[in-house]
Amino acid sequence: MPKKKTVITYGTFDLFHIGHLRLLKRAKELGDHLIVGVSTDRFNAIKGKRSIIPFEHRAEIVKAIRYVDEVIEENSWEQKVDDIKNYEVDILVMGEDWKGKFDHLKEYCDVVYLPRTHGVSSTELKTSLRNLLEVSPARLREALAMLEQILRELE
Ligand code: CTP
Repeated sequence: MPKKKTVITYGTFDLFHIGHLRLLKRAKELGDHLIVGVSTDRFNAIKGKRSIIPFEHRAEIVKAIRYVDEVIEENSWEQKVDDIKNYEVDILVMGEDWKGKFDHLKEYCDVVYLPRTHGVSSTELKTSLRNLLEVSPARLREALAMLEQILRELE
């Protein structure tokens, strides 16, 4: 029987969205066993990133995705070589935003960069949330005018 193909990928997976889901689906289609390294909050701080959802929750969500067989912690940039060896990884999958950045790992396994889903990212979701919560000066003026109207009617 041929050896099962193991695929590994890494990411933060904050505010889990359709781009994440499609990436994991396509990664799984490349093999039989999909391992996902979810970035810990501490590693995100090193990367200059801060997630809204804490590591334990992000890891639990990713683990529940049906394409995912195993979740591990991503703690450092350097762990990939050890992970590839320890888990006998055949293919490392990264989104094409990382194109070329992991070519040095081709010495240990295949490296595949998959296209991203357009129009969605954790960063964009955070911006949308911020915009939703922001009260514009025009809206404030409108509310003030309404209040003044109510007060006049009460006089
Ligand atoms: N990904 C994707 N399509 C998107 C967003 C992400 O295919 N629209 C992929 C990334 O290329 C990566 C994985 O999903 O392989 C995890 O990405 P992550 O960095 O956690 O997600 P982003 O939404 O890109 O987060 P951020 O905006 O913080 O960079």
